[in-house]
Amino acid sequence: MIDIGTIKIETERLILRRIEKDDANKMFQNWTSRPKVSRYTRWNVHKTLADTEKYVNYKVNRYGNVPYCYDWVVTLKSSGEPIGEIEAIEIFLMDNAVEVGYCYGDDFWGKGYGTEALKAFISFMFDKVCVDKIFADHISTNPASGRVMQKTGMKFDAVLKGYLIDKNTGKREDKVCYSIDRE
Ligand SMILES: CC(C)(COP(=O)(O)OP(=O)(O)OC[C@H]1O[C@@H](n2cnc3c(N)ncnc32)[C@H](O)[C@@H]1OP(=O)(O)O)[C@@H](O)C(=O)NCCC(=O)NCCS
Repeated sequence: MIDIGTIKIETERLILRRIEKDDANKMFQNWTSRPKVSRYTRWNVHKTLADTEKYVNYKVNRYGNVPYCYDWVVTLKSSGEPIGEIEAIEIFLMDNAVEVGYCYGDDFWGKGYGTEALKAFISFMFDKVCVDKIFADHISTNPASGRVMQKTGMKFDAVLKGYLIDKNTGKREDKVCYSIDRE
């Protein structure tokens, strides 16, 4: 795995770039304050802009200080609007693999942006970072995320029974695992 860090990626409609301190406002407005989005994320909904500023500071400080940091804000090429995030949430150095995580503001769902960004992430990780395998998983109550994985060519691996708790219901649910190999 090569440690080239978070480098700008351009797709047909999106620009994936490093998160900046000035992004906090839009991030709060578009996704971190939205319960619909955070229901399926590992972070809880942000109640105030200060929560997002803290989160952004943490992320910005990691660039250049933490090895193998791959963490992008996803923006619209047409307007520069930040619409979501995509990140290598786990790095498996010994296995030459990463796990991906992503989320987008609900105003931007259903337009193919999640799929477009994940495809770009996968290409970058295979071509530039030279990993062999990329993992992803979702709670079974969030099939839209699984659909995004399928549309990028990720393959279903397994269901881990009762591994996750749905934040909304407090009920234990299954974890659905996908991956894609370099070949
Ligand atoms: C899941 C998420 C990333 C999808 O992003 P997106 O930009 O809307 O994704 P796309 O538009 O590329 O594709 C969404 C697909 O899911 C499908 N979909 C939407 N709701 C669905 C549902 N309830 N069940 C099954 N499929 C669903 C859409 O129809 C579309 O598939 P299609 O193109 O075959 O019609 C976005 O909804 C999100 O950020 N959710 C909150 C955070 C989150 O869940 N993160 C992932 C945690 S694992």
